Amino acid sequence: MLTKLLPATVATAEATADPADVFLYPEEEALISSAVPKRRLEFGTVRWCARRAMESLGLPPAAVVPGHRGAPQWAPSVVGSMTHCAGFRGVALARSADFAAVGIDAETNTVLPEGVLESIALPRELRRTRELARAEPEIAWDRLLFSIKEAVYKTWFPLTGQELDFTDALVGIDATQETFHARLLPDPGSLSPAGPTSFSGRWSARDGVLLSAIAVPAARPVAAGARERRSAPRVVHAGSAR
Ligand SMILES: CC(C)(COP(=O)(O)OP(=O)(O)OC[C@H]1O[C@@H](n2cnc3c(N)ncnc32)[C@H](O)[C@@H]1OP(=O)(O)O)[C@@H](O)C(=O)NCCC(=O)NCCS
Repeated sequence: MLTKLLPATVATAEATADPADVFLYPEEEALISSAVPKRRLEFGTVRWCARRAMESLGLPPAAVVPGHRGAPQWAPSVVGSMTHCAGFRGVALARSADFAAVGIDAETNTVLPEGVLESIALPRELRRTRELARAEPEIAWDRLLFSIKEAVYKTWFPLTGQELDFTDALVGIDATQETFHARLLPDPGSLSPAGPTSFSGRWSARDGVLLSAIAVPAARPVAAGARERRSAPRVVHAGSAR
């Protein structure tokens, strides 16, 4: 599912069930030694996905441990993002020569608990979300808005180390094209210059899962000839435990 939302040069790997053969490095194992089973499963499977995405990019497998404020630490040559929710775990990984940042988020396609939408949405987003919910109630548009804002944060934070509130980003959702645009509202002088102030991405609602994905191209694009020679990475999908 993720592969359809991101450029072909972003390696994706995902799982809709937890494989039995998940291997964790000692530094990863140490982080979840006392975690509840649900956390162990999502933590392990998303790293299983990460190893497959590394393989797709021709990189050796490596541990993925949280860095500052939980942001995953990758090899310097790559940027990436991880997500997990009930029934879905996914990773997107790209060469830092090609992309400055990648941010993905998965949520179940279920409406947010009462009061949450009002706390994360700006007035314009609130109106649009309610309008979409009336027109197409099979999609939890409020949860999708939440997911898009999480994807924005996961794209922004590793680049800048700067926190964002939910009301710092104004999100516009194109329901037909399954795309979105987000613009950061704080005064540019208060935002880190290391990150973009607007983001474009794609979303999907399939099989009970909402996905949002953003890929920010690197400032210095790879020369056209070199890009053409580089083959697109393989996509790995685990539909069932193996
Ligand atoms: C960090 C956060 C975005 C994670 O999202 P989530 O929906 O709770 O959880 P997901 O399963 O989708 O993602 C979890 C993964 O996010 C990644 N992550 C955690 N903190 C991160 C950060 N600061 N930056 C980037 N990625 C981060 C990790 O890889 C984590 O996986 P792991 O715990 O197995 O290592 C969320 O908990 C959060 O703090 N949100 C508040 C900030 C925000 O979103 N503001 C909106 C601004 S518009």
